[in-house]
Amino acid sequence: MSDRSTTTNARPGGTGPLAGRSVARIGYGAMQLERHHDDPAVGVAVLRRALELGVDHIDTAQFYGNGFVNDLIRQAIPADSDVFIASKVGAAPDPDGPFPMRPAQQPAELRTAVEDNLRALGRDSIALVNLRRLEIGPGLAAHGDQIVDVDDQLAEMIALRDEGKIGAIGISAVTVDTIRRALPAGIACVQNPYSLLDRRFENALELCAAEQVSWVPYFPLGSAFPGIPKVTEAPEVIAASKAAGVSPAQIGLAWLLGHADNTLLIPGTGDIAHLETNLAVGGIELDAATTAALDAVGAATTTVPIAPPSWPGDADVTTGRS
Ligand SMILES: NC(=O)c1ccc[n+]([C@@H]2O[C@H](COP(=O)([O-])OP(=O)(O)OC[C@H]3O[C@@H](n4cnc5c(N)ncnc54)[C@H](OP(=O)(O)O)[C@@H]3O)[C@@H](O)[C@H]2O)c1
Repeated sequence: MSDRSTTTNARPGGTGPLAGRSVARIGYGAMQLERHHDDPAVGVAVLRRALELGVDHIDTAQFYGNGFVNDLIRQAIPADSDVFIASKVGAAPDPDGPFPMRPAQQPAELRTAVEDNLRALGRDSIALVNLRRLEIGPGLAAHGDQIVDVDDQLAEMIALRDEGKIGAIGISAVTVDTIRRALPAGIACVQNPYSLLDRRFENALELCAAEQVSWVPYFPLGSAFPGIPKVTEAPEVIAASKAAGVSPAQIGLAWLLGHADNTLLIPGTGDIAHLETNLAVGGIELDAATTAALDAVGAATTTVPIAPPSWPGDADVTTGRS
């Protein structure tokens, strides 16, 4: 392993394809910026630092802080910049509800959500929008008229792409069967939960690799939610980090980058120091013995059944996001 500093290449992690573009393999997931609600300048500073360090792929949603995170992005990133913004639809903000969001899976709701994102981001088009299904946990579950056939949803997403409101379609929180059904729509990426500790979707990753679809895992470090195992707390990760003189988070992210070439990272952080170390991961190469030891850690989870949607603990309901 090498390069323990926080400096990065021009594009952190090198580059990989996303929807016909070439983007940094280490991007940025903006969900953790929600917590800077009372001090938006901090959120803007995190985003600007990410751009300074070469990030050109940012993941967001209108339901992150009821538009707050998109508002930060609009302030920090000029609408005519070439930063690749990816958002998601399938839920709507619900600040007064039991969760801060509610399912919004109907085709008309997908369209409304795209238009809300466009307005909030101050753009005419969003480079990629993920259709966020509710097929797997943890998170919101679909009931009643919110159980919508994926083909009906994809027809609306294709119409939005034809109209130029979105540049490309991704799909998220889905089973392998749904990915197969979505392939003819020309999906550019899949976002599912996946990390060194959670490899339930190894088969989905492999399908994406075979189909030249980008794999953009969410919860790459195990998220901020209580009840979801944290990559940084795994004994094997801590041992590897001590041996290499890098942080546990860097080990977890370096493993993801090395595991599959079609992986693009969007680690979430609201902390500039964490951001800097995450973006330096491209300079860390795990040796074969370390990789083999880390491969074995999550291998058992590749056979774990996909959990039904539910939040990991009652304590989450006040902060529940998806
Ligand atoms: N498609 C979907 O349905 C979906 C669902 C969830 C999330 N996402 C996207 O995926 C992104 C990533 O997921 P996530 O943010 O939920 O989880 P994550 O990236 O797995 O983990 C975020 C947590 O890790 C901590 N962290 C980050 N860097 C660290 C470092 N270097 N050292 C120690 N701790 C560190 C963060 O704390 P600090 O903030 O203090 O650094 C935060 O608690 C989100 O931001 C969002 O954009 C998409």
